[in-house]
Amino acid sequence: MSLRVIEGGLTEGSSTGLLIVGASAIVTMAGGLRRGETQAETATLVGLRDGGPDSPDGPVVATWGDRIVATGPRAEVEAGLEAAGLPLSRFSHIDAAGGVVTPGLVDPHTHLLFAGSREGELQLRQRGAGYLEILAAGGGILSTVAATRAASADDLLAHGRRWLDEMLSHGVTTIEAKSGYGLDLRTELRLLEVAHRLGQEGPVDVLPTWLGAHAVPTEFKDRHEPAEAYVRHLIDEQLPGVVAQGRARFADVFCERGVFTADQSRRVLEAAAAFGMQARLHADELAPSGGAELAAELSALSADHLAAPSAAGIDALAEAADSGRPVVAVVLPATTWFLMKPAGAPARTFIERGIPVAVGTDFNPGTSPTASLPLAMTVACLSLRMTPAEALTATTINAAHALGIGDVVGSIEPDKQADLVIWRVTDPDQIPYWPAADLVRVVIKRGRPQLLRD
Ligand code: NIG
Ligand code: FE
Repeated sequence: MSLRVIEGGLTEGSSTGLLIVGASAIVTMAGGLRRGETQAETATLVGLRDGGPDSPDGPVVATWGDRIVATGPRAEVEAGLEAAGLPLSRFSHIDAAGGVVTPGLVDPHTHLLFAGSREGELQLRQRGAGYLEILAAGGGILSTVAATRAASADDLLAHGRRWLDEMLSHGVTTIEAKSGYGLDLRTELRLLEVAHRLGQEGPVDVLPTWLGAHAVPTEFKDRHEPAEAYVRHLIDEQLPGVVAQGRARFADVFCERGVFTADQSRRVLEAAAAFGMQARLHADELAPSGGAELAAELSALSADHLAAPSAAGIDALAEAADSGRPVVAVVLPATTWFLMKPAGAPARTFIERGIPVAVGTDFNPGTSPTASLPLAMTVACLSLRMTPAEALTATTINAAHALGIGDVVGSIEPDKQADLVIWRVTDPDQIPYWPAADLVRVVIKRGRPQLLRD
């Protein structure tokens, strides 16, 4: 198998089109954020008659420049392009060879940038140590903080490129990337700057999130009320620096019993909101901590983890969705699996209660060292009992909405960014069915093929 990564984005004036032909199915995800029963609606196009992928009725996608211009049966799309003044001679063809086309996957929750590795914790946890216990002893997040503070911007750039390449090879074209392994202004700014630069380099779009409230750093441990003292530092010193830098789009907080309380989380997120930074939360990962309730109260873009929400928290998210202020529940099944937890997030309950669900990797060195969103989909199906269709919605259009960019990416619709994946499968349900297999054949980002495998 050959694998080729093509560097760079679109150059000025290179307005040519692509016509993806020969697909057995095109999963468009058209129609906006999904919740409840629509979580499983993929708006998939297949051949109208039994002519197979290459018939005039076979579904195609046309892109022009960095945008999608049309999708539908081939004869119809080709006639429409000519009529719109886009001559077919200007389109290169990509043969999907009977594979499935989906929107580029969107990973709505990653801790992309860090230094070091924490494999020693696996055996500690196997012997019964708790995740927060390891953190309280100065390990866990804090050991990654020490390694990350010592890493240069160049080290972090090289690390970021290595993992973004891997994400791309799994069909991921947009990610969110949190800071949170600096916990001092200098290192937090370095992480946010590197995340921004990686997105500028492309091809994967990277949306930076400030997660200064990830843990209380060691230097605050001897202060009176360490978490309170650190929250004051976050609001009075870190946040103004982060705002002046202008790289972070979102603010996040680890709202968890034993880390930051709901009240402390509220203060940080409200202070960030005053500067226009949208809220997202690590909410109720290990115990009910008021995170889901707070996410609904603040109309956060997302409440993430939610492996242990309270009944009131679920009610609050359901009520927010019903009243048109949906907070996307970003479930992270690879994390509960890797932490060997008996239960993950109650995704079935979320879907039954009309709460929109997205799935992310939570890629990080402690609780989810996987960059594979398709693997997270597999675990979502096996551990959370999501259907393959629900999981695909959760990693495309709903994940895009969790990042506030549901109008730009996450579905195959005219005028949206031309971010597409051609999979080596004949039915989209096969994507999570083959755990850890290399099923991606072609990745197209902003209308340009980035990865081509034979
Ligand atoms: O989302 N739980 C908080 N933060 C990360 C883990 C970070 C770490 O252990 O390094 C998470 O699981
Ligand atoms: Fe996380």
